[in-house]
Amino acid sequence: MTTQRPSPIRPAIRHIRPNGIGAVSSTALGQPDLIPLWFGETDLVTPAFISNAAKKALDEGKTFYTHADGILPLREAIRDFHKRTVGANIALDRITVPGAAMMAVVCALQCVVEAGDNVVCVSPVWPNVFQAGEICGAQIRFAKLEENWRSATPHWHLDLDKLFALCDAHTKAIFVASPGNPTGWIMQPSEQRAVLEFARKRGTAIISDEVYGTLVYDGTPHAPSFLQIAEPDDNVFVINSFSKPWAMTGWRVGWLVHPAAIKDSVNVLSMANNTGATVFAQYGALAALSPEGDAFRDKIRARCHHGREVTQTFIGTQNRIRWMKPEGAFYGFLNVEGMKNSHDFAIDLIKTARVGVAPGTAFGDTGDSSLESYVRICFAQDPKLLETGLERLGKAVAAL
Ligand SMILES: Cc1ncc(COP(=O)(O)O)c(C=O)c1O
Repeated sequence: MTTQRPSPIRPAIRHIRPNGIGAVSSTALGQPDLIPLWFGETDLVTPAFISNAAKKALDEGKTFYTHADGILPLREAIRDFHKRTVGANIALDRITVPGAAMMAVVCALQCVVEAGDNVVCVSPVWPNVFQAGEICGAQIRFAKLEENWRSATPHWHLDLDKLFALCDAHTKAIFVASPGNPTGWIMQPSEQRAVLEFARKRGTAIISDEVYGTLVYDGTPHAPSFLQIAEPDDNVFVINSFSKPWAMTGWRVGWLVHPAAIKDSVNVLSMANNTGATVFAQYGALAALSPEGDAFRDKIRARCHHGREVTQTFIGTQNRIRWMKPEGAFYGFLNVEGMKNSHDFAIDLIKTARVGVAPGTAFGDTGDSSLESYVRICFAQDPKLLETGLERLGKAVAAL
């Protein structure tokens, strides 16, 4: 008979499970002839001018510890990026480069959340975010975007009253990703102002994930940003990343804009979590913020715009697949009529159609079964490959 030994492992860690995207992709990652549309990245390799800047830094011996808040020229270039994209003047001491955006999310959560608190997340939402909150000991509450299929242009809608009703005395943060993953929904300035006003009154932080900020299709340089309305001492954390617009997902560099008053604390968090971001990767990131980087960003945006149209054309040929055309980011969150279990469907697709998608249920427990009828694809892909992947998906859905 085995005796039960006391365990030092925290319940939050013992109970954590691989998220729904990993649970599907791990069964077939890297298999030849499978078209992977499940992850949030393009199939383009990082451009040479960025890689060369990192190589040059290596050749120059930039291999030592550096400032935990990021190298100064990079933080200055980030400051200038915010000025030219959203017209915001951000003081340098509010900018920290702790690693990639995911590390920035962790630092922001660590600033405000402890066991017993809760975080209200606008959802569906990328699972790593709510898992990070759970690891901090927080309860996650999902403020569900509502489906509006009846409109001439079907779209996701956030009911602010419902969002506010989910907040109580233990709510330490409201998490918003706009443009959103997986929906491509964009929060409007009037909604941002209402959330900011509510958060100010309640002493709640706002964690605004803007990693898809420049991936918008309405001709503007950037989606509305909380940086345009927040004061330097508001409890607003804005997260951004080099991963998506510059094809740098493997580099692990992003940044956090935080309230001015806690700059020293965030520096210590960056130190304690990872002692800052990889130094030569930061020199690559610096090259991404050059005019050449702006041009590459435009190229990625054009590629995504085309991928969005390819997906729209595909949907036009389908009876049982529809979407609310995303306003930003690079995902199609596809609603499949008659699909009862998105995880099982995604697993079957691997075997029968050789295409990889992320199951809708990965994106949060919304308390109902509505996400069972969704799968997410990433359309930032080679158009031919995307077309073939969608064709395979269409055949599998027809056979459902
Ligand atoms: C909303 C959102 N935030 C953050 C990230 C992660 O960015 P990074 O690669 O910089 O950690 C992702 C990646 O998919 C994302 O979708």
